[in-house]
Amino acid sequence: MAVQIAEAPSTGAGPDPQPDPQEFKPDLERIEIELLLEGIFRHYGFDFRAYAYASIRRRLWKRIEEEGLASVSALQERVLHEPEMMEKLLLDLSINVTSMFRDPGFYVAFREHVVPMLRTYPFIRIWHAGCSTGEEVYSMAMLLREEGLYDRSRIYATDINEVVLKRAKAGIFPLERMQEYTDNYMRAGGKKSFSEYYTAKYGGALFDQSLTKNVVFSQHNLVTDRSFSEFNVILCRNVLIYFDKTLQSKVHSLFYESLAMFGVLVLGSKETPRFMAHEECYEQIAPPQKIFRKVR
Ligand SMILES: C[S@@+](CC[C@H](N)C(=O)[O-])C[C@H]1O[C@@H](n2cnc3c(N)ncnc32)[C@H](O)[C@@H]1O
Repeated sequence: MAVQIAEAPSTGAGPDPQPDPQEFKPDLERIEIELLLEGIFRHYGFDFRAYAYASIRRRLWKRIEEEGLASVSALQERVLHEPEMMEKLLLDLSINVTSMFRDPGFYVAFREHVVPMLRTYPFIRIWHAGCSTGEEVYSMAMLLREEGLYDRSRIYATDINEVVLKRAKAGIFPLERMQEYTDNYMRAGGKKSFSEYYTAKYGGALFDQSLTKNVVFSQHNLVTDRSFSEFNVILCRNVLIYFDKTLQSKVHSLFYESLAMFGVLVLGSKETPRFMAHEECYEQIAPPQKIFRKVR
């Protein structure tokens, strides 16, 4: 018998999956989830097997409820036989929340502590890993342009999810977020007027296309794909929090191998390379910002 979750919230869509608490068997539910993730990996190549369990479980149940299903096994049946269901689930599992100049203090510190070092390089290679819909990439492009570094930079912007990459390439962001982004931009040390970077078009804010002249958007899976170049800066913000410790360590090894000596690794505000492989090879620049320089 398929297992149901005890505390899965009801959305009111379709049959209510609220189970009989008597029937809820967490161990069996875990087996169902592991089988589903194994199936997704073997059939589609997306590897969520080492993502943080509580978060994965919550998101699977969100999809189960929205589809009016009653169990993880029922979702498995749909996902394995319907690629469109996999596409929906990928959006649920990959958590694409982002914004422009997110954590403005980071950009201030980047200008002050990293830009002077970048100025000494003839060519700058930057990797945004887990770039989502690209707001972070456009923010970095603006910063580099304002610092006179954009023309000698190449930015690789990658994500597991092709749907978000398409949005990133299009460069159209919700108009209603422009006020928030303008505030962030100013707090991030922006040197121009933020409104110069976009025009209202196609029902949104269309960003200056020349900002992506030196950007390559492409799909890359941090769990299963390898390093593809050597970088001066790697930004991977708010991605590793969704991975378990073993997977975080694996991805940290990938970053270490992909960074040039004295290259800079940028993590999200709740992330750290502490207790990870190569922890001792980094020094933190400008704490509390999560900017680390590879020193050995
Ligand atoms: C919360 S967003 C972070 C976006 C941006 N870095 C920021 O901080 O605003 C997390 C992104 O990581 C991506 N992601 C999750 N697992 C991934 C993986 N295995 N490989 C590459 N990207 C992944 C998701 O698709 C999502 O777009």
